[in-house]
Amino acid sequence: MDTEDSIVICMGSSCFARGNRRNLEVVEQFVAAHGLKAEVRLAGSRCADECQKGPNVIINGVAHHGVDSGALIDLLNAEFIACKRK
Ligand code: FES
Repeated sequence: MDTEDSIVICMGSSCFARGNRRNLEVVEQFVAAHGLKAEVRLAGSRCADECQKGPNVIINGVAHHGVDSGALIDLLNAEFIACKRK
């Protein structure tokens, strides 16, 4: 596991209302369920002026837009579970 792993969730009002409220819960549950608390830095961010693309989530420096909770779980599995097994 890379110690630089990070998940940044936009906590601006638009992203938060459009799905990041739920996405924050999903990330917290995922990190806890997979024992990643020590390896993944979870942070919130302010509005990045990309509200129309939201909800926005940045995983290891890559911005993902229009992220609903189902897509988020797929992204988290791909980034932190599937690719780490290779
Ligand atoms: S609220 Fe997330 S980019 Fe503006």
